[in-house]
Amino acid sequence: MKALVLAGGAGSRLRPITHTSAKQLVPVANKPVLFYGLEAIRDAGIREVGIVVGDTAPEIRRAVGDGSAFGLDVTYLPQDAPRGLAHAVLIAREYLGDDDFVMYLGDNFVVGGIDGLVERFRAERPQAQIMLTKVSDPRAFGVAELDGDGRVVALEEKPEFPKSDLALVGVYLFSPAVHAAVAELKPSRRNELEITDAIQWLIDAGHRVDSTVISGYWKDTGNVTDMLEVNRLVLEGVEPRVEGEVDAVSELIGRVVVEPGARVAGSRVVGPAIIGAGSVVRESYIGPFTSIDEDCAVIDSEIEYSIVLRGASIDGVGRIECSLIGREAEVTPAPRVPKAHRLVLGDHSKVQINK
Ligand code: TTP
Repeated sequence: MKALVLAGGAGSRLRPITHTSAKQLVPVANKPVLFYGLEAIRDAGIREVGIVVGDTAPEIRRAVGDGSAFGLDVTYLPQDAPRGLAHAVLIAREYLGDDDFVMYLGDNFVVGGIDGLVERFRAERPQAQIMLTKVSDPRAFGVAELDGDGRVVALEEKPEFPKSDLALVGVYLFSPAVHAAVAELKPSRRNELEITDAIQWLIDAGHRVDSTVISGYWKDTGNVTDMLEVNRLVLEGVEPRVEGEVDAVSELIGRVVVEPGARVAGSRVVGPAIIGAGSVVRESYIGPFTSIDEDCAVIDSEIEYSIVLRGASIDGVGRIECSLIGREAEVTPAPRVPKAHRLVLGDHSKVQINK
């Protein structure tokens, strides 16, 4: 069995971060979200992984390399444009050959891994197996309708009137039967080749499509709210570890990780939180569920429930919450007069100002 990991896409919901970098590499507890997926694939006993890449291919290649650091054998499959999840399968046709495969969306986060799903697929070997989870508002997802035995009878992409509350999770298992389906597809209304259409094609052709409703946790980290929520969840499980310097007046409370070369002085850090290698935290408060990446500076400020990417600095600005701060970004106070905000914002930035 192989794996097909989707790490291309437009990432429009995570702009402006995705103007300059791949959304699959945004760190969760200081580790790219994509790495959690690759580890889950390896832990399920799969070694050969095809990674579909788009405009951000060089960055993904730099981060993942040949996959040996993960115990994987990685092949890159360039996609000329984000033409849909089924298009990714189409361009991977030759790589996948006649093997079964697990398709994994590179920005998805599944707690508890995929071992059980892969085992079940191997034992039962339907033509396809999908993962579902109950959601409160199914209209934003691919939605499945099941019969009494848990077989999928119909799928609908972002329906206006959903027939169930079971949404498709970004991990799919396929036999080579899917290639015939994908080859027949026409672009959808949003001009993409939809994987839901491919699965519906299999059902209509009389193939067996099984489903598993997962009770565990799943998130698509395609937007900031979900990204922060996944960061919270992962941080809750970190083991406290102090390898950097913490001065005598600083206080670390709960699950706090201070990476080697990080310096904490005159500050209070309430975990779960992680301070990355080479970062400086001075005269500041770092609150729960905060990940500070490498080489950042947090000076005379307060930050909580946030992700700060590599090289960013926050200096003298009071309190920040629920924020995603990009690489090398600078947050500083404006002069006292005139009382005005001074902004240099990238395209598609979002700023919420407390008046
Ligand atoms: P999505 O999050 O559905 O799509 P997107 O990346 O275009 O994001 P947005 O809606 O914010 O513009 O994609 C799920 C995953 O699959 C993600 O890791 C990107 C990847 N992907 C591809 O590799 N190729 C594609 O053609 C598409 C649509 C997505």
